[in-house]
Amino acid sequence: MVHFNFQGLRLTRLERPVKMIPVFKTQRSCPISPMISILVLHGPNLNMLGTRERSLYGALSLKDVNGAIETFAAQEGIRVQIRQSNIEGELVTWIQEAKDRIDAIVINPAAYTHTSVAIRDAIAAVDIPTVEVHLTNVHARESFRRRSYIAGVVIGQIAGFGPDGYVLGIRAALAYVKRNPAQTPS
Ligand code: DQA
Repeated sequence: MVHFNFQGLRLTRLERPVKMIPVFKTQRSCPISPMISILVLHGPNLNMLGTRERSLYGALSLKDVNGAIETFAAQEGIRVQIRQSNIEGELVTWIQEAKDRIDAIVINPAAYTHTSVAIRDAIAAVDIPTVEVHLTNVHARESFRRRSYIAGVVIGQIAGFGPDGYVLGIRAALAYVKRNPAQTPS
């Protein structure tokens, strides 16, 4: 150590420069931080879960469903980001923003399942493994619900298991990501 005076103050300088400590990136490419990130998207009217057509969709609110997703994510040591929108373009934007940042998407596109070429194209464009989830068994309901614009661009669909479908979907996405690490962000 070297002591010196500067404007009446007694200062001490370390003789050797302080070593810079390398800062590691927190992306999945870094071997010390392999945390998998999953984006969970809820489409229109799912904000009304718990009050909406309870005989079909059950009594749990979206907050309850998201709580179960977060608990599962914490148990698995993965990161989840959960968003809901009633606006098609907003869902499209969030899918686009996930490119190169998210390992997998789990989406319940709700009514947009049966109408949205834009959501389908967004999923195809980002090339992120995606699981389609429905609370109800859409294949056992009205005929228009049997057609999914999304099904052709996802790795699989889970329908009919109520809120458990989201956890099943995340489980499936996780297994897929682990089996196909080359498809994950670098
Ligand atoms: C739904 C099924 C859709 O047909 C419907 O429009 C929804 C919810 C489901 O989770 O079962 O809003 O996606």
